[in-house]
Amino acid sequence: MLTSKSRLTILTLVLFIFALALPLNALAHGGHGHQKPAKKAILLVTFGTSVPEAQKVFTSVDQAFKKAFPGVEVRWAYTAKIVRDMVAKKQGKTWLSPSEALAKLMSEGYTHVAVQSLHVIPGAEFHDLVAVVHGFARMSHGFKVLISYPLCSTVRDLKAVVGIVAKNLPKGAAKDDAVVFMGHGTHHPAGVVYAAIAYMLQQEGDRLLMGTVEGYPSLDDVVAQLKAKKVKKAYLLPFMTVAGDHAMNDMAGPEPDSWKSILEKNGIKAVPVMRPITALPAVVDIFIKHAKHCFEHLK
Ligand code: CO
Repeated sequence: MLTSKSRLTILTLVLFIFALALPLNALAHGGHGHQKPAKKAILLVTFGTSVPEAQKVFTSVDQAFKKAFPGVEVRWAYTAKIVRDMVAKKQGKTWLSPSEALAKLMSEGYTHVAVQSLHVIPGAEFHDLVAVVHGFARMSHGFKVLISYPLCSTVRDLKAVVGIVAKNLPKGAAKDDAVVFMGHGTHHPAGVVYAAIAYMLQQEGDRLLMGTVEGYPSLDDVVAQLKAKKVKKAYLLPFMTVAGDHAMNDMAGPEPDSWKSILEKNGIKAVPVMRPITALPAVVDIFIKHAKHCFEHLK
């Protein structure tokens, strides 16, 4: 026979074990009305670059994100298959595509994933990424995933970025010198953002100009402005997240159709500066702000 005291002890023990088992059960299964503990990740998505020197800026972006989001897994994906293949072949490094990276995070049990587009404008690559992320968002209730805006998405963003680059003009640039930023440009409707950036740069300084490789404003537009302003010397900087192939060849290359060559043909001394906008920590902070905002909506 058990005494009432020992019966009470057994009952207490049973209740205690039951109480312990509940959260364990919730942790293990995650379903049945119980919440899985949050396992957060950020997926940073870029076009990518095959230029090892240019990849270095991604390392500092990675470190800034890890510092801003302690305890959150930070991963990367390259959208460009051609770049992924080239890097794998030449450097033996494997970069995942956005869908590969998301599938991996899903299978590893991540519950909250903020996909941060490292694109400059919300153009074609950003919209391709939106489609991928929406697909994953529909797959599972236990996998919350949201895409965040790229760098120049709102008037506020544009003004902030333009303000930052205007405060960080290349060393040695005199008052009479022009500073020309080279954006990528696109056929996508979002390409109009470059015209807005050009307008805002002009408000910051008469000799701050914007041109694009593949869109509007063009290099011809830039040359016409430089001539009208009687500029003798212009600094050239990429308005891109990496100073990769476009900066090295289209902007600063020795070929007769590079920006440097065309400016010099027009009697303007051209000084290329291989500094991407992500080399400015304040620019990286804008991406971080977007990712923080994204997590707020993921709750
Ligand atoms: Co390109």
